Amino acid sequence: MGIVLAAGQGKRMKSKLYKVLHPVCGKPMVGHVVSTLEKLQVSRTVVVVGHGAEMVKGYLGDRAEYALQAEQLGTGHAVLQTKELLAEEEGLTIVICGDTPLVSVETLEGMMTLHKERGAAATILTAVVDQPKGYGRIIRDDSGYVTKIVEEKDCSEEQRLVQEINTGTYCFDNRKLFAALSQVTNQNAQNEYYITDVIAILNGQGERVDGYVLADSAESIGVNDRLALAEAEQAMRTRINRNHMLNGVTIIDPASTYIEADVQIGADTVIYPGTVLRGETVIGEDCVLGPQTDIADSRLDAGVTVKQSVLQEAVAGKGSTIGPFAYLRPGAELGQKVKIGDFVEIKNAKLGDETKVSHLSYVGDAVIGRNVNVGCGAITVNYDGFNKQVTIVEDDAFVGSNVNLIAPVVVGKGAYVVAGSTITHNIEAGDLAIARERQVNKAGYADKLRAKFAAKKAQEKK
Ligand code: UD1
Ligand code: CA
Repeated sequence: MGIVLAAGQGKRMKSKLYKVLHPVCGKPMVGHVVSTLEKLQVSRTVVVVGHGAEMVKGYLGDRAEYALQAEQLGTGHAVLQTKELLAEEEGLTIVICGDTPLVSVETLEGMMTLHKERGAAATILTAVVDQPKGYGRIIRDDSGYVTKIVEEKDCSEEQRLVQEINTGTYCFDNRKLFAALSQVTNQNAQNEYYITDVIAILNGQGERVDGYVLADSAESIGVNDRLALAEAEQAMRTRINRNHMLNGVTIIDPASTYIEADVQIGADTVIYPGTVLRGETVIGEDCVLGPQTDIADSRLDAGVTVKQSVLQEAVAGKGSTIGPFAYLRPGAELGQKVKIGDFVEIKNAKLGDETKVSHLSYVGDAVIGRNVNVGCGAITVNYDGFNKQVTIVEDDAFVGSNVNLIAPVVVGKGAYVVAGSTITHNIEAGDLAIARERQVNKAGYADKLRAKFAAKKAQEKK
């Protein structure tokens, strides 16, 4: 079982957003914690909610059960709110704070293994840090067992010097946890019911309490303010990038590469500096991304190249090339080997295989077939101020430079639209359309015109 404490407001964040919903690498902190418990395959996850309860529940949905802590009387009181749901259960319970997003699955597994081996009633995840300020201190006896945790505000001078801290994550024998919780009081500097007091209570009962020290103390970061938020972000980013690199992704400069928590990337993809990959993005193998590229909630199949571009809820088929300076907005769907060149915007449009939109185009609300050439500066005119209309260009059509396709309009298969045309009527398959003024050349008139202007200027000067 897992209990996640997430009822606090997080005053020190000075934010309208509830603390546990602040994102770290694109994912709310409480989301990281619940994901970790999911990977650990705990039988039940109960999230204690209070401040922002509806928002937290709305975000997590049915990934967890919920216990409401209507008034925030402390972390011990928070755990007590799960009594109805969990007190009768047998087995191990992990208690973890919703503001410690970096605690890893491997760490929890290590803690649980130690807990079982030692036959402990409680095992605390601890860390040895240079700056213990703000954290509860771990007090051990001569034989190394933990006797109690003392909150910073309740510390003596001597206790304050202890560098082993409580990360706020624990493994408990479930029955013993709830039995001890009923004895916790609020006799302390903050008049709160502390979960940490359970440790001294169990110790007093002759139960064994252990501490499992984190190998990497960066995992212990508890986010109480924006400084810690930035620290957590950096530590998480380092971890995410490292995992991708170990899985075969080349990241030229990890320090300037921002990959959110749930992004997937295939092996042999190369990522250049200044690349941001966000949300539910899935990148295939052998892609080349960046530099300066921002991709959110998009799917790129194998071998796609994206340079200096922005993609949002877009799909790019195998071998497509995008950019530099392209903008793919929601609903942009490229087939295979599509070319999207510089200063091209695609929105809510499907483009078939091997179609090219090479420069300076806007394609919106359109269905473009395979092997279509959309010339430089050609655009779909999809909006009349009231309605969005659809443009259809069938396979093998050629749309010349600077063509306006005024939707709704269909360009038939293999049709040819002459450069500079403004198309308002459908074009049948195989037809050629030209829709522009016929050109008139006036022989020698350029010189005549210049002479006329010069004479006028001379007249004015007099
Ligand atoms: C807590 C620990 C401290 C530890 C630190 C690690 C206690 C008393 N102290 O301190 O030993 O070093 O975490 O980060 O447990 N919460 C509730 N209901 C409440 C109070 C808090 O759900 O009534 C939740 C908060 O939303 C938060 C978590 O519990 O996610 C921790 O609370 P917080 O106030 O941040 O505790 P710390 O002072 O950091
Ligand atoms: Ca905290």
